[in-house]
Amino acid sequence: MKFFLDTGSIDEIRTAAATGVLDGITTNPSLVAKEGRNFRDLILEICTIVDGPVSAEVTEASTEGMVRQGLELSKIHTNVVVKVPLFKEGIMAVRQLSGQGVKVNVTLCFSATQALIAAKAGATYISPFIGRLDDISQVGMDLIRDIRTIYDNYGFATQILTASVRHPVHVLEAALAGSDVATMPYKVFDALFKHPLTDLGNEKFLADWKKLKT
Ligand code: E4P
Repeated sequence: MKFFLDTGSIDEIRTAAATGVLDGITTNPSLVAKEGRNFRDLILEICTIVDGPVSAEVTEASTEGMVRQGLELSKIHTNVVVKVPLFKEGIMAVRQLSGQGVKVNVTLCFSATQALIAAKAGATYISPFIGRLDDISQVGMDLIRDIRTIYDNYGFATQILTASVRHPVHVLEAALAGSDVATMPYKVFDALFKHPLTDLGNEKFLADWKKLKT
């Protein structure tokens, strides 16, 4: 399963990229707004740090506007994946953009039938928002399992990108469910490396090693 970081922070991206196990980046308008920078410049800088897919989201409401903005975003760098929201006008834009060879990440997916529509429209990625479903007392991970079954039933190549990840157990469950990608905040990425028994074990090994006289 690929690891993407869900952030617009260059510091977080540089730190995660240095581990060598970061595969890509997702951003959204809220994350980009937090950085207070020119959108295009930020996406370009991210693309120079991470050699993998970088999702940049359209902010237009009409199909025509999303297609125009999506084409502009796709020209920033070959790594750019255009992120389009999952409503009817968005799906119409996905069809046009994918038809022109633009990679598209369909975002704000909350049902398996929405995911089926996105795949039919030619989406490269579908982003089901797991944490936001958990927030309203639905089991978000059930959605990943349902989409995996449907995509496998029909051989869709659209990659499942588990989004709105809030903790390491979401990453574990996404991997068990056969998600292609999990995108996560930096603090979740960092937590994946840690286990108290690893730290204790390493301290003991090093302490014992120091006792060696020869
Ligand atoms: C995914 O692409 C979204 O940017 C993100 O995962 C949303 O997460 P949130 O529900 O924590 O805002």
